Amino acid sequence: MTAASPNHPVDFADLLAFYASAGVDEALEDAPVNRFAEAAPKPAERMPTATPRESSAPEQPPAAPPRLDGRAVPDAPAPRPPTSAVPDEAQAALARQLATAAASLDELRQHMAAFEGCNLKGTAKNLVFADGNPQAAVMLVGEAPGRDEDIEGLPFVGRSGRLLDRMLAAIGLDRGSVYIANVIPWRPPGNRTPTPHETEICRPFIERQIELVNPKVLINLGGPSAKTLLNTSEGILRLRGTWRVHTTASGVAIPAMPTLHPAYLLRTPAHKKLAWRDFLEVKAKLRALS
Ligand code: URA
Repeated sequence: MTAASPNHPVDFADLLAFYASAGVDEALEDAPVNRFAEAAPKPAERMPTATPRESSAPEQPPAAPPRLDGRAVPDAPAPRPPTSAVPDEAQAALARQLATAAASLDELRQHMAAFEGCNLKGTAKNLVFADGNPQAAVMLVGEAPGRDEDIEGLPFVGRSGRLLDRMLAAIGLDRGSVYIANVIPWRPPGNRTPTPHETEICRPFIERQIELVNPKVLINLGGPSAKTLLNTSEGILRLRGTWRVHTTASGVAIPAMPTLHPAYLLRTPAHKKLAWRDFLEVKAKLRALS
């Protein structure tokens, strides 16, 4: 990439290609912000000042950033609780409280839509709650929505979702006979990996969702789903293919089959045969349980 300097104007095509390969596919603000300039103290701040005093005046809420998703910005936005930039234990505790208080999937969705304690919500377009049949015997849980899922507000609707649909069809299932959700219901910006803290904040919601659906069989799509919900740190290539147990807060033990994530299978097609074996295990288990 060409260096940006007055003598070397940036080659914008190269710069865009660099951003795209780094996973940057979303503009958060209309105008660029130079964070380096922000970090440097302004000249006035370097001047010695009078003894600082603590202000008792409440801080004014910052002006709302411009929206780029087409939804209108109200002239005078109603004050609302700030979305925490760094999730903390208080937000995790609130998430647990809200999740436990939800008596139905509808209530859980409402509580999650109103929850402001996860920073990922601030950059996502939509809450991606679930797709499929809440009465299904099979529930699948992925990691987090990607770009297509964020736009549509539904899990697994992009390329990996289309592969997942074919995998389900191979064992006689479809979206009418399964229920699909994610550990994280808001798209991480640029599809980055959710932080452990973000996962901890969202964990009570997906755990309650599983408890409310109460499937006969759970399928964990990929390592993050398996690790979060099966209480293990083992890698997915070791975990996959053997039955584990997900235990709900009320003590119900649900058989769980960890398998490879469809996005991984798109990159590593040679491993599709392993996922195929896992799905055959699920088919056999459903037959045994019926
Ligand atoms: N990957 C996931 O883990 N979940 C989705 O919904 C889409 C892609």
